[in-house]
Amino acid sequence: MRKGTQLYEGKAKKVYRTDDERFFVIEYKDDATAFNGEKKGTVAGKGVVNNRMSNILFRMLESHGVETHFVEELNDRETVVKAVRIVPLEVIVRNVAAGSFSRRFGVEEGMELRRPTLEFCLKDDALGDPMINDSQILALGLADEEELRTMSAVALRVNDLLKDYFSGIGVRLIDFKIELGRYEGRIVLADEISPDTCRFWDAETNRKLDKDRFRRDLGEVEEVYREMLERVSR
Ligand code: TMP
Repeated sequence: MRKGTQLYEGKAKKVYRTDDERFFVIEYKDDATAFNGEKKGTVAGKGVVNNRMSNILFRMLESHGVETHFVEELNDRETVVKAVRIVPLEVIVRNVAAGSFSRRFGVEEGMELRRPTLEFCLKDDALGDPMINDSQILALGLADEEELRTMSAVALRVNDLLKDYFSGIGVRLIDFKIELGRYEGRIVLADEISPDTCRFWDAETNRKLDKDRFRRDLGEVEEVYREMLERVSR
């Protein structure tokens, strides 16, 4: 398969067409942004970590019956994926209060939630990715009822599988964001699952092992990305 022209460049990845219209190639960059692109930087090696770690997790999820866009890892930074059309929604699942949930509801970071929460945000940088509810999603035609049900069920199933998986490598899954795409009439898990899109805390010490180290200037950013890749590679 040959990599073709660039289709899209996002904040952390580029997407290329290929000579087969069923597939794209994704290239992961080291660029890091936070607060809707206001804070910019580079995390050396992040693209490699996010590419390899996402692919390991997508394979694990596929083995449990969750369809993903993953097709084939080409090299450290590039992966062939199904040419999905991304649903313009970010789906966030939380197990422990942190980040915007703690700010919005005035609850301490680290508070265990009685059950996982599910949130949707409209994927629109110009609008700052505002939260959106089911009735608004349906009213705007962003997804239909069946798709909404599927996306919610996939998000909660992915949470169960990831929570178990990470607990086996000494990591607490605090929260995460996924994106889904449409492919041959099905909803499939797309984008990435990485320290950019999840909060990971060490199970023993609660040390942050994710992009919050970049967002909050906590230092040792490259180190924790590398450590997370080492843990999932064992
Ligand atoms: P939040 O607490 O800032 O709303 O973030 C919740 C989760 O979503 C956290 O794991 C980080 C992830 N996330 C993204 O992947 N992309 C984003 O643009 C934002 C704001 C959060």
